[in-house]
Amino acid sequence: MRLGLGGKAVLVTGGSGLLGSAIVRRLAAEGAVPIIHYRSGATAAHGLADDTGGIPLRANLLEESEVDALIERAVERAGPLAGVVANAGGWPGPPVPTRDMTLERWRRTLDQNLTTAFLTSRAYLKHVHEVGHGSLVFVGSAAARFGEDGFADYAAAKSAVTYGLVQTLAREIVASAPRGRVNAVSPTWIPPSAQAEAAAEQRLKRALATVPLGRAASAGDVASVVAWLLSDDASGYVTGEVIQVSGGMSGRLLPPPSAEQ
Ligand SMILES: NC(=O)c1ccc[n+]([C@@H]2O[C@H](COP(=O)([O-])OP(=O)(O)OC[C@H]3O[C@@H](n4cnc5c(N)ncnc54)[C@H](OP(=O)(O)O)[C@@H]3O)[C@@H](O)[C@H]2O)c1
Repeated sequence: MRLGLGGKAVLVTGGSGLLGSAIVRRLAAEGAVPIIHYRSGATAAHGLADDTGGIPLRANLLEESEVDALIERAVERAGPLAGVVANAGGWPGPPVPTRDMTLERWRRTLDQNLTTAFLTSRAYLKHVHEVGHGSLVFVGSAAARFGEDGFADYAAAKSAVTYGLVQTLAREIVASAPRGRVNAVSPTWIPPSAQAEAAAEQRLKRALATVPLGRAASAGDVASVVAWLLSDDASGYVTGEVIQVSGGMSGRLLPPPSAEQ
């Protein structure tokens, strides 16, 4: 299927990271012009730009002025943004039961995953209001739907993004852009490499116990769904949706009983 993204400028936040770089490569393969946002990954972002013809731009997504300036600079360099992928975020690790979780960690995780998504979408929606069109895709997590032991902060932040923001912004965007759309993908764990996969074999077994497709997600699995969601030709009547890219995951195993109990 042709996605019709040729020549279209799309900003990917966290574009130099594991999943972001796969999304950037996928968009470039479709002929889009990827704007590769990064914060600390300058070398990776510039290398990816050389490979893909993309445009690397730096911003701390927790600074309001930097996020607004990111959208402005992207438009200056590439023209109207057909889409934004709000991918920046991350796992707080290590696991901490909620009874022991500090307020500092809770706030840090919500900032990294929810506040960055809010500020990115706010800045983009101002641009959509000016140009009258746009498509926004958030990157959530299976944790939003099934929870994750030791990661109440992350699960709560991703739920707020994929259910609270997606549903609300899908309604708000059409006041500015009649065909504007807002969606999300919710991936399961993406092991970074075969080596890391082997090291985390036990975790992988538990993670795959309720996954009919029987393997972990790859970054490419997620990137192709993001590209599909960005495409008006392919998914122009899909909005307010959360696409689970999870191999059919139907839940999680209960944690083993603690020795303390
Ligand atoms: N990997 C998985 O298993 C998995 C599974 C489900 C969902 N996800 C989600 O997928 C997204 C990408 O994750 P990933 O695995 O690709 O992680 P990653 O490689 O660590 O990339 C995350 C990116 O987010 C950026 N970022 C984080 N906080 C930022 C801030 N305040 N300002 C600017 N940039 C910020 C980082 O920028 P710099 O490094 O440049 O500082 C980094 O490029 C995240 O939202 C994550 O929650 C990942």
